[in-house]
Amino acid sequence: MSENRKPSILFVCLGNICRSPLAEGALRKAALDKGLEIVVDSAGTGDWHIGSPPDERAIAVAAENGVDIRGLAGRQAVPEDFHRFTMIVAMDDSNLRNLIAMRPSDGTAELVLALDCISGRQGESVADPYFGNAADFQETWRDVSAVADALIKRLT
Ligand code: 4NP
Repeated sequence: MSENRKPSILFVCLGNICRSPLAEGALRKAALDKGLEIVVDSAGTGDWHIGSPPDERAIAVAAENGVDIRGLAGRQAVPEDFHRFTMIVAMDDSNLRNLIAMRPSDGTAELVLALDCISGRQGESVADPYFGNAADFQETWRDVSAVADALIKRLT
């Protein structure tokens, strides 16, 4: 990570309506709880949900955990993100491959796979809950909350 810049973290999944908005909400809450000032955002590699709010099931599981993500709007990841953020966190290996292909040669952001932050889960993907049920969204919340906590530890 760049040493002299305020930490800024972009979470990236496929649609930017399930996993990455939940990760954004979880990290915003964890940072607030610790009084840590960081910039947090999320994006998708796909363009289907640009401007859309998160999936209703993601909104519900976030709300159950005291986090309001209703105001988020989908956007697509762009090469410029590698200059704007200090760290880009891919939710799965397909997102990671797409981001590697998009990365400008002079991009400064550190690019990581989300669960690589968690001991014992390196190389795993945060499962896509889009075609799943409420229990799958709860599992997503658990995964992204653990990632958020690990990132906070890394930053403090
Ligand atoms: P996400 O889930 O990548 O976690 O936001 C998905 C959302 C939408 C689609 C796929 C995955 N989709 O195909 O529209």
